[in-house]
Amino acid sequence: MGAIQRGQAHFLLLKIHSLTGLIPIGIFLVFHLAVNSLRTVGVFPYQLSIDIINNLPFLIWIEIFVLYIPILFHSVMGFYLTSIAKYNFIRYRYPRNWMYTMQRLTGGIVFVFLVYHMGTTVAPKLWYGHNEFQAAPFLIGVMNDEFQTWTGRIIYLIGIVAATFHFGNGLWGFCISWGIIVGPRAQRNAGIAFILIGLGLTVLGLATVVEFSLNPVPVEPTKVGGL
Ligand code: HEM
Repeated sequence: MGAIQRGQAHFLLLKIHSLTGLIPIGIFLVFHLAVNSLRTVGVFPYQLSIDIINNLPFLIWIEIFVLYIPILFHSVMGFYLTSIAKYNFIRYRYPRNWMYTMQRLTGGIVFVFLVYHMGTTVAPKLWYGHNEFQAAPFLIGVMNDEFQTWTGRIIYLIGIVAATFHFGNGLWGFCISWGIIVGPRAQRNAGIAFILIGLGLTVLGLATVVEFSLNPVPVEPTKVGGL
């Protein structure tokens, strides 16, 4: 491959990395934290949401192609970009320099959190065959147990804050990368808007943790008439 072609391939990979951070991963994160926060309204709406998701046709294929492959690509590319990054936030103490470093650090934290989180939810659900209406009692049981210990709460606290920061600050990077915000004023205002979005998502996630911690309600599988 010639130097120009290699440069083009690198550029394309950077663009796909930037795009997958928003579509589908960022959209999934917003949806996921919003659906989980249904637990603060009551255990019934939460169970209903898990029932709906786990009764979707072709669920595993949707998860593999819409979620797992993009997350894997985004993570591998993210680790590569982190390995070639230049850190100078000690020499140049600008907020943007600090954010640059934090973006890479939180990416790594989210990756470790995801391995843990999926290893305690989706993996045992699939392994033990808790499908369709059996998924909700199993997953709600797992969450109830996790949030009864401070270790579990702190792991989720770190995972949620890292993910919402990475997403909020990532939105800023996405807008710069795609030429959506150009001038310094627009960049500053967008930065403030994205901080607020990140904070809003953090509140949703933490409210869910508090609710699970205070009210660990177990549930029975939903019984559907005639089944
Ligand atoms: C309050 C905090 C959270 C709760 C209660 C929660 C709960 C859950 C549950 C119950 C599942 C299993 C879903 C199923 O198999 O039907 C799940 C899966 C998942 N969670 Fe979370 N989660 C939380 C935070 C997060 C965060 C911060 C992230 C991102 C870093 C995340 C990413 C994922 C991913 C990627 C999956 C796999 C999705 C799938 O296979 O359908 N979660 N979560």
